[in-house]
Amino acid sequence: MLDQVAYACASRYASRYVVTLSVDQVMFRQPVHVGELVTLLAAVNHTGTSSMEVGIKVVAQEIRSHQQRHVNSCFFTMVAVDDERKPVPVPPLRPFTPDEKRRYAAALTRKALRQEFARRASPPPARDGNCRSLALVP
Ligand SMILES: CC(C)(COP(=O)(O)OP(=O)(O)OC[C@H]1O[C@@H](n2cnc3c(N)ncnc32)[C@H](O)[C@@H]1OP(=O)(O)O)[C@@H](O)C(=O)NCCC(=O)NCCS
Repeated sequence: MLDQVAYACASRYASRYVVTLSVDQVMFRQPVHVGELVTLLAAVNHTGTSSMEVGIKVVAQEIRSHQQRHVNSCFFTMVAVDDERKPVPVPPLRPFTPDEKRRYAAALTRKALRQEFARRASPPPARDGNCRSLALVP
């Protein structure tokens, strides 16, 4: 469901087909119980050249009491593509309202964190053709 909503949100924003590049920070704050009404709220938080961060907030509602709970939040990175599945530019997002500006700033922080995580998680380049240079030492 989350991926479908991310697709709908990003493709409508870009007026293009989009593909899912990544999903991160899927935070299950509370369980969703069988029989509850689930609403997914999505927004494009930030745009790069061809990529978009889509934030999704999931709200569950107990049918009898109408009590609502924020149960899940997550962030997808979607990339707009052409007919050959090559990335194509998307319209740059111009945040306007305070909420849009807050989401934009938070998305920029997450983008920097993703880059930092990728940098730290990637193995160091081998200095020569010898596999010993990749050995993990505690
Ligand atoms: C998404 C995809 C089209 C990107 O192709 P690519 O050759 O890496 O294209 P680019 O280098 O131009 O990158 C496109 C965008 O993705 C971002 N990107 C690509 N790889 C990335 C990575 N590992 N981490 C973060 N961002 C990445 C680039 O920063 C760029 O963003 P920008 O245009 O906003 O600056 C390609 O990786 C792909 O087709 N992936 C499979 C997608 C798919 O099938 N998803 C469904 C899975 S079931």
